[in-house]
Amino acid sequence: MAESSKPVIGILGGTGDLGSGLAKGWSAAGYPVVIGSRSREKAEAKAAELGRGVRGEDNAGAARRADIIVLAVPFGSHNATIEEIKAEAQGKIVVDAAVPLVPPKVSLVQLPEQGSAAQIAQQLLGEGVRVVSAFHNVGASKLHQGGKADCDVLVFSDDKEARDQVIALADVVATRGVGGGSLANSAAAEAMTSVLIWINRQYKVPGAGVRITGLDAAARA
Ligand SMILES: NC(=O)c1ccc[n+]([C@@H]2O[C@H](COP(=O)([O-])OP(=O)(O)OC[C@H]3O[C@@H](n4cnc5c(N)ncnc54)[C@H](OP(=O)(O)O)[C@@H]3O)[C@@H](O)[C@H]2O)c1
Repeated sequence: MAESSKPVIGILGGTGDLGSGLAKGWSAAGYPVVIGSRSREKAEAKAAELGRGVRGEDNAGAARRADIIVLAVPFGSHNATIEEIKAEAQGKIVVDAAVPLVPPKVSLVQLPEQGSAAQIAQQLLGEGVRVVSAFHNVGASKLHQGGKADCDVLVFSDDKEARDQVIALADVVATRGVGGGSLANSAAAEAMTSVLIWINRQYKVPGAGVRITGLDAAARA
């Protein structure tokens, strides 16, 4: 844990659209952030661009320094990235934001036979890691605009305490985090991303998102 008492957040794929947007939001709120990359030099350059004390490392280094690890890489490199940081992740929370899109038909729901990317992550990482799944429906462009992204963030985990920690992190970068139940339910949010991509294309908007109605602030976890 960092001296600030806020957890150190390590974002794998933090040089990319989603990861750098999350890094921007959390670092602006005073969270210590380390972004990871396949190339340490690339991560250092992106970190310098982001400022606010953000540091750059290779993915394994970012995972090592982090209290909470965020996985923000394309699904095609999801499993390989997890294998790379598996040892560093033991005992920690891993937040999986990867959506199992199958190019070129990314506006068509095509979930993996294991159910969801998040369930694959939990299988690969083992019981020593608390996997939380979140941020699938947050358009990165909204995070880069500054301020909070105008949408709810659905958060899934089999571990309530880990889910609550990530709901609090979602509150920092978006309208609010909303608990969505167990990791198996992550399939719904992962599938919703393709629906949102379809809506963006059909209605020519940059960032359709989700909002849960009928829920007051007191009872969302
Ligand atoms: N963009 C969004 O609006 C958004 C929203 C919700 C969820 N997501 C999900 O979040 C994840 C990241 O999305 P993104 O849009 O940020 O992706 P991205 O910009 O294309 O890639 C993120 C980073 O992943 C790393 N990477 C590792 N393996 C790669 C490979 N084989 N090809 C390309 N890059 C690779 C790259 O970092 P290095 O080269 O530095 O290693 C890259 O900067 C995806 O699973 C996506 O479905 C994205």
